[in-house]
Amino acid sequence: MKENGTANLDLGNGNASIALPVISGTMGPDVIDIRKLHAMSGLFTYDPGFLSTASNSSEITFIDGDKGILLYRGYPIEQLATHCDFTQVCYLLINGELPDSKQKDEFDIAIKSHTMLHEQLVRFFTGFRRDAHPMAVMVGVVGALSAFYHEAMDISDASHRQESALRLIAKLPTIAAMAYKYNIGQPFVYPRNNLSFSENFLHMMFSTPGEDYKVNPVIARALDRILILHADHEQNASTSTVRLAGSSGANPFACISAGIACLWGPAHGGANEACLNMLEEIGDVSRIDEYINRAKNKDDNYRLMGFGHRVYKNLDPRALILRETCHEVLNELGLQNDRLFKLALQLEKIALEDEYFISKKLYPNVDFYSGIVQRALGIPTIMFTAIFAMARTVGWVAQWSEMISDPAYKIGRPRQLYTGPSMREVPETLHK
Ligand code: CMC
Repeated sequence: MKENGTANLDLGNGNASIALPVISGTMGPDVIDIRKLHAMSGLFTYDPGFLSTASNSSEITFIDGDKGILLYRGYPIEQLATHCDFTQVCYLLINGELPDSKQKDEFDIAIKSHTMLHEQLVRFFTGFRRDAHPMAVMVGVVGALSAFYHEAMDISDASHRQESALRLIAKLPTIAAMAYKYNIGQPFVYPRNNLSFSENFLHMMFSTPGEDYKVNPVIARALDRILILHADHEQNASTSTVRLAGSSGANPFACISAGIACLWGPAHGGANEACLNMLEEIGDVSRIDEYINRAKNKDDNYRLMGFGHRVYKNLDPRALILRETCHEVLNELGLQNDRLFKLALQLEKIALEDEYFISKKLYPNVDFYSGIVQRALGIPTIMFTAIFAMARTVGWVAQWSEMISDPAYKIGRPRQLYTGPSMREVPETLHK
């Protein structure tokens, strides 16, 4: 981070202008440092939705939405998705470098030593209704983890932060799979540490005491790729939620639970489930135009799920990779003629050719394809966002840890533009 000149802000009405420092990072737009603006001028800035505001600096992930670039610690997502597995990417996001083979083995062992849940925590599941959405269960159970690890929750201690990060990455698949098993009324399946991260999750989701379950390597590899693509995405809504919650000194389990709650929203991680539900609702290619017209109608709030992105105004690089995976998986599993897949491809084609979507740069996003791939893998729709949460946990803990280890971090406290009533008196008629 280095200063790169100043930006002058003209306050008008004969007031002097204010010189604000401009700061450069390693890539991406410079920022105007407005930290002293209020002290110098009495003014706040106004930026609902953070359209032009960097809330922090970070060394973890870089996105160029116009060029369609996504880098984790400098490495292009395409290379990571092709050459690495998910735990290598976890190591990279947390530690800043890709592991050598010894570091990778040690990291895998460390993760595997934390995959089980405390048996007391397993009982939490039975307090939920059977039809509870897995994300509702995850918000509760992940938050409850903080009741189990008092001895390692000093956030100022780097070894405690590392321990919590490993616990969260390792336990999220177990929690997600148990939420699913509870929902469908099957017994919980405990983790098997001779399997890889993705294989183990599939084993916990799909094996039953009655039958042997053999993990299909095509499915495990596709899932691993989905996890890599969703592992981090700089300061999105759920990551910002984790950072804001963590800025008060809250424990990491509570912060990640807050992140899961935010991710669940249909404008964020809930979009993959919403997208599949939308395809089911459209039902047939003959009805696509009706839905496209609704999405274009200014008087209708309807949006095509799985289209558009706040940052990518070009094709989302994750979507491009998953699009390819989508075709590979469907061919491999003999599902090319699947009804919803055909519908999705037709919708994609029409939206990519439609003037409304072109002019607003609304391309299919990662959730459009991840829903289709996950459905092909046999993953039920209600689990889509839970799998996103499982993947994003590593990004959340890496970003949380980066914030806490920065000695200059402050509690997050946005300001506001007040538009309510001016000060007034309680009417005498109401006095006691
Ligand atoms: N369908 C139809 N119109 C849309 C859509 C859509 N999916 N997305 C945006 N628009 C229109 C919107 O109506 C607006 O039009 P106008 O300028 O005439 O008012 C314009 O495009 C800009 O929309 P915006 O809401 O100002 O854009 P945003 O950057 O605030 O929202 C978004 C980004 C992802 C929330 C939005 O595109 C959306 O709701 N998409 C559908 C949900 C979805 O797929 N979300 C997953 C995002 S990717 C996963 C992740 O990273 O979490």
